[in-house]
Amino acid sequence: MKIGVLGAGAMASVLAGRWSAAGHELFIGARNAGAARTLAARLGVDVPSGSLRDAALFGDVALLAIWPTGVIAALLQAGAAEGTLAGRVVVDCNNPVETRSFTLTTGEASLAEQIARLAPGASVVKAFNQCQAGVWAMDPPHFDGRPLTVPLCGNDPASKDITPPPFNVRSSVHEYGGGACVTRLIQDLGCRALDVGPLHRARHLEAMAAVVIGLLFSGTDPLTVFNLVSSTAPSAPLENRNHEEGARASRLPHLDSGDAVTR
Ligand SMILES: NC(=O)c1ccc[n+]([C@@H]2O[C@H](COP(=O)([O-])OP(=O)(O)OC[C@H]3O[C@@H](n4cnc5c(N)ncnc54)[C@H](OP(=O)(O)O)[C@@H]3O)[C@@H](O)[C@H]2O)c1
Repeated sequence: MKIGVLGAGAMASVLAGRWSAAGHELFIGARNAGAARTLAARLGVDVPSGSLRDAALFGDVALLAIWPTGVIAALLQAGAAEGTLAGRVVVDCNNPVETRSFTLTTGEASLAEQIARLAPGASVVKAFNQCQAGVWAMDPPHFDGRPLTVPLCGNDPASKDITPPPFNVRSSVHEYGGGACVTRLIQDLGCRALDVGPLHRARHLEAMAAVVIGLLFSGTDPLTVFNLVSSTAPSAPLENRNHEEGARASRLPHLDSGDAVTR
């Protein structure tokens, strides 16, 4: 896939590095051309770099990895309101969380939904926001012999396809749909994708991250959190599961139980 990366910080660096190693074609864009150039050069001599707008226009997929207070400004710089992201999958890994009381800085709409409103025609998928950059750098991110489970949500019907068809890294996003593309990008990190529903679920993923970040700041090992999702978790979206399955899910270990400290 062709992936335009907006941002040149920690998350951009680690995700771009892993996807580049998996054979995807990357472009690094940032407000600071020098930072974009430096990261691109680290990824490979032929990795191009440029502005946020260039990155938005580059690929089938755009990763938005911007400091949360700058996300909206970065989108505007990238020309999202003018349609530069239309027809592309926008991966939102950002956490609108302030770190004094570990609460969300958004109102009723999640950051992911705000991004979708500001980027007409884009298929926004929330993913990769639950773990710190060091986890994404692990190759593979396995814990106790199990792959990390990565929740994602988005409105593209194809995001329900948790097991996409055989996929060539050069394949177009249009052949597979947004969610299937992100599923593939998750699998390329050695992780397992878990579709948790449409984009309105992003407000819950963002709230979960607020809890995880609070744990991180308090010194609790946050690496365990999504390792706790069973490796036999059902492949159907959580919202579509019947009551019996819901009851089974409710018996999964919880963060605040002793089960949380399993490693
Ligand atoms: N780090 C993690 O472990 C982690 C894990 C999960 C999710 N996240 C989320 O991922 C996102 C990126 O985090 P990070 O750790 O990669 O941050 P970071 O290392 O500080 O990098 C932030 C990037 O955002 C850019 N930026 C900041 N304000 C901007 C603005 N107003 N306009 C345009 N660009 C702007 C920065 O550019 P400059 O260099 O020019 O300032 C930099 O390229 C955040 O939303 C965070 O919540 C982070």
